[in-house]
Amino acid sequence: MSQSQEPQQLIIALSKGRILDETLPLFEQAGIYPLEDVRKSRKLIFDTNLDHVKLIIIRATDVPTYVELGAADMGVSGKDVLMEHGAKGIYEPLDLNIARCRLMTAGMKGQKRPEGRIRVATKFINVAKRYYAEQGVQADLIKLYGGMELAPIMDLADEIVDIVDTGNTLKANGLEAREDIAPISTRLVVSQGAMKMKHQLIQPIIEQLRSAVNG
Ligand code: ADP
Ligand code: PRP
Ligand code: MG
Repeated sequence: MSQSQEPQQLIIALSKGRILDETLPLFEQAGIYPLEDVRKSRKLIFDTNLDHVKLIIIRATDVPTYVELGAADMGVSGKDVLMEHGAKGIYEPLDLNIARCRLMTAGMKGQKRPEGRIRVATKFINVAKRYYAEQGVQADLIKLYGGMELAPIMDLADEIVDIVDTGNTLKANGLEAREDIAPISTRLVVSQGAMKMKHQLIQPIIEQLRSAVNG
């Protein structure tokens, strides 16, 4: 039996990277904290102050996979990651209201999107495919894993689909935002199976996090 399937145990998957610094204080306010400093440890699974709750800390893009397949009962994930993953079989009961930003298209400043087929570099291939299809734009997608802003500069792509927060990265690289695709923030997610089987353990955590968010 995997850890998350034990009825009295809850596994919560947190995204490492920039979301984690804002997630941990929120969980602490909700009464859950790891028993050691997760940033100093090479461990991937952590005990918490609550005997029945463990935290796993994984790549942001892996959180929906763990939750969808029930290896984690709950998780914390950016809406961008959830949109890209598809997030079938995952409930999204709470907006944690952290890491707020926008998913946008962008290109070189002062240049218009070319007519006809365009080349689009992004790590959000599924989101971009859907978006350009809805706009009636034929797009050849190029998968990148980061630093998307470089692609138009190097003429690898005509346009990018990426996160914009302050706009500093676009500006520093001579790009400008073009179209808004979606507002993004971090969500609490729950596996549908766990919501059914472990409702009594999960519901109080959702409510405590809701209070922490509403501060
Ligand atoms: P990755 O290494 O996959 O890019 P990050 O830690 O940079 O992971 O980002 C994790 C999540 O934080 C993203 O899925 C998104 O929801 C959010 N995010 C990313 N970039 C920004 C930003 N510049 N400002 C605010 N939130 C961001
Ligand atoms: C993110 C995102 C943008 C930038 C936007 O990159 O992909 O490049 O932040 O933020 P800004 O509008 O405030 O400049 P990140 O730093 O996460 O690097 P990455 O490409 O490795 O994901
Ligand atoms: Mg990033």
